[in-house]
Amino acid sequence: MLSQKMKDALNEQVKVEAQSSQVYLAMASWAEIQPGIDNVTSFFYRQSDEERQHMLKLIHFINDRGGFASIPNLEAPMQTYPSINHAFKSLLEHEIMVSQSINNLVELSLNEKDYTTHNFLQWYVAEQIEEEALARTLLDKLELIGDEKSGLYLFDKDILGVMVVSSNDAGQ
Ligand code: FEO
Repeated sequence: MLSQKMKDALNEQVKVEAQSSQVYLAMASWAEIQPGIDNVTSFFYRQSDEERQHMLKLIHFINDRGGFASIPNLEAPMQTYPSINHAFKSLLEHEIMVSQSINNLVELSLNEKDYTTHNFLQWYVAEQIEEEALARTLLDKLELIGDEKSGLYLFDKDILGVMVVSSNDAGQ
């Protein structure tokens, strides 16, 4: 059984994950109308889908443990970006915020002596390490490329490999 505090905090996390999905969906839609970055577009759509899965996992957990997952209102995400670099910078900042939010949940689960929730949250801890690392790697590459169009072309090709590797990891 979840404590009220734990329930409220997990429901807040449902909102964080839903908002993440929304933010990345907006990035995907923006990327889709930029020329020549089809794989970057697919990457953002995929990130958005993954965040929805993170949200659903939480919803099921709350409901399975005698709580009630409420579906939150979301804020309008940023619709356009000055550049691809800005979008990826924003993605990294967003993931850092999500990691902080997960860390706060882990801390609360320990304070509440809720070891089941603590155990459940370990999946999110591992996921955040991966997501932050991936966002950092991609942003580092973009910063090396600068405004070079040929570099962006290669980046778009390269991100396809990143997606294959991380889908294989997810299947392990
Ligand atoms: Fe589910 Fe990337 O946070």
